[in-house]
Amino acid sequence: MLIEIPEVLTKEQVAQCRQLMDAAEWVDGNVTSGSQSALAKNNMQLPEGSPVARQIGDLIQDALGQSPLFISAALPLKVFPPLFNRYEGGQAFGMHVDNAIRQLRGTSFRIRSDLSATLFFSEPEDYDGGVLTIEDTFGKQEVKLPAGHMVLYPSSSLHHVTSVTRGARVSSFFWMQSMVRDDAQRTLLFQLDNSIQAVGAERGGKDPEVIRLTGVYHNLLRMWADS
Ligand code: NI
Repeated sequence: MLIEIPEVLTKEQVAQCRQLMDAAEWVDGNVTSGSQSALAKNNMQLPEGSPVARQIGDLIQDALGQSPLFISAALPLKVFPPLFNRYEGGQAFGMHVDNAIRQLRGTSFRIRSDLSATLFFSEPEDYDGGVLTIEDTFGKQEVKLPAGHMVLYPSSSLHHVTSVTRGARVSSFFWMQSMVRDDAQRTLLFQLDNSIQAVGAERGGKDPEVIRLTGVYHNLLRMWADS
C-alpha cells in the first residue's frame, strides 16, 4: 500500500526547518548507502546524527506520533531516526530497493525496514524533476507532494528519484519496522480501521456491531502483530 499523509508539518514548521537545513553543511549522500545503491545514488545529505538532523528528526517523529492516519497505516514498532537529502543540478537516485536491515551507527539500535517514508521540504513548483517513482504490486506511481506532506510505501518496492533539473529538492527520508510485517495484512487492518471509524461516526461507538467489528480488528492485530 502506498499512502499519502498530508500536513505532517505545517508550512511554518517547514519554513523554520528549511532555515536550519539551508544553513547546515551537507555531505555526499553515499555515506548511508549499501554497495548496490551507492552506484545509483547522486545527492547530498545532512550528516547522520548532526544537531540539525536530530532536531528536525525529533520534530518529525513527534508529529507522526500525533497522526492517527500515520499510526493506523504504519502500525509503527520502531522508526529509524529521519535522514535528510538534497538534489540539485541534475542529481538523481537511480532504481534501487532499500536495505532490509538498518543499524544506527555506533549503537545496537536496528530495524527491519518494512515501510519507507519521504517527507517533502520543497514545494513542487520550486524544482523540476525530482519525482519519486515507486513500482510495486500496485503498479508504477509517481509522487511529488507539497512541502510538509509525506508518502509512505513498502520498503520492498523498487523506486527511484528522477533528475532535478531546476531548483533544489530537499526532503527527509527514513524507514520503519511495523508491528505487522506483511503489507497485505497491514493494508487489511488499515481498511478495517477506516470502515470502523466511518460506521462508528454514523451509529455511535455503543452500537453492538461497531463494538463487534472493533473486537475483530483487535483480534486480527493480536494474531498478526509483534510488539
Ligand atoms: Ni530508497
